[in-house]
Amino acid sequence: MEPEQITQDGAEAPQAAGAAKKVFVKTYGCQMNVYDSQRMSDALAADGYVATSVMEEADLVLLNTCHIREKAAEKVYSELGRIRDLKAERARNGDEMLIGVAGCVAQAEGREIIRRAPAVDLVIGPQTYHRLPDALKKARGGEKVVETDYALEDKFDHLPQPRRADVISRGVTAFLTVQEGCDKFCTFCVVPYTRGSEVSRSVAQIVAEAERLAAAGVREVTLLGQNVNAWHGEGPDGSEWGLGRLLFRLAEIPGLSRLRYTTSHPRDMDDELIAAHRDLPSLMPYLHLPVQAGSDRILKAMNRKHTAADYLRLIERIRAARPDIAMSGDFIVGFPGETDADFEDTMELVRAVDYAQAFSFKYSPRPGTPGAEMDGHVAEAVKDERLQRLQALLNEQQNAFLASLVGTTIETLIEKPGRQAGQIVGRSPWLQPVILDEKAGRIGDIVSARITNTGHASLFAERA
Ligand code: 5AD
Ligand code: SF4
Repeated sequence: MEPEQITQDGAEAPQAAGAAKKVFVKTYGCQMNVYDSQRMSDALAADGYVATSVMEEADLVLLNTCHIREKAAEKVYSELGRIRDLKAERARNGDEMLIGVAGCVAQAEGREIIRRAPAVDLVIGPQTYHRLPDALKKARGGEKVVETDYALEDKFDHLPQPRRADVISRGVTAFLTVQEGCDKFCTFCVVPYTRGSEVSRSVAQIVAEAERLAAAGVREVTLLGQNVNAWHGEGPDGSEWGLGRLLFRLAEIPGLSRLRYTTSHPRDMDDELIAAHRDLPSLMPYLHLPVQAGSDRILKAMNRKHTAADYLRLIERIRAARPDIAMSGDFIVGFPGETDADFEDTMELVRAVDYAQAFSFKYSPRPGTPGAEMDGHVAEAVKDERLQRLQALLNEQQNAFLASLVGTTIETLIEKPGRQAGQIVGRSPWLQPVILDEKAGRIGDIVSARITNTGHASLFAERA
């Protein structure tokens, strides 16, 4: 993932440019981490930090980490090794460089990080990002700071709103966290432990942030939550709102032409949310709805609280409401106890659903989760083989979906310049990048584009 860029805004910059400290942020993992990194950058900007994309010149290197699978955490530790060498080199030149670790590895490992990587100055968990400026002050004083307690106060009440200039520099699409944490306790997953229990932000906070984004030129907002469709809040009329009702409200904001949300749990797809897919043209026809496995025995062991048939019925209802919806999902192969027959059930479910996109992983035991303690761990070679077969099938479906779009005309939100000169990149309603001639429109325009060809997970098009 790219490091954050903050453009300097002279009017709002709290310090003269020469005196500004520099922060390099590197983000791992999910979109919520991307959003959190932006909010930490916003909090640091208010504290006089300017973003840099050059780690070597940073006064603060902040890694926003992910703990979802083994390799994610290991990558962080090896990165910390490299940064330690850089810090030592900077110290020889008389420069101070602080190292901070945020995110889910910070929450899960806490002080262990400083034990394993003593060059780290600051460890801060996702619930306490509003305390980052204070924690930094202590770290600059030479203290090793570990902030991983769940805060009593709401961090969103204390984090500064993004500056208009920052919103503009981040482009015409934006993330907006509406819900955090998870109470589902799937037996493979660390999220309920690293992100804590489910918390929903208030309607007023969410609407205000969405209006602010729209006023700065954002056209597409993706609502984020670990369990986003479990979001609930009190509407202005005092009644209880679910995510569907919230989407109806956000659809009224002028300028916000596209809405998305992720990630959902099948158990929380209620009637009003399905109605939102039926009634709101601005709610994009794409749904990431992880199922993880197709065998009822494994779904039960995973504590998913639904069967394969429940999931298939739900998708039928969603497709009845919005026939052009593209489905996306997550899968885990090799959960403890998974037999060949269980795995065939997963393949069968994938064939039945026909995904436009999907993510699939080998099961990785996470310390502290019930799955890690279960019997029947599956051999690595078996996991490899199953993953290969599953990914071959999912790739086939993804390619077929892309191919089915060739010759059709679709609405494309133009997002950014292309990698090649003369090109511009937009986004389809189903999330694929759409590559167009730069004369097709300006950034922020939604244009009709005729698909001429497919690339790897992308589309080529001409202005219709
Ligand atoms: N091992 C493998 N994959 C996992 N995921 C979550 N925990 C694990 C784990 N322990 C996957 C799930 C989830 C996605 C974000 O990561 O598929 O939906
Ligand atoms: Fe993890 Fe399950 Fe919660 Fe998703 S629903 S965050 S997989 S525990």
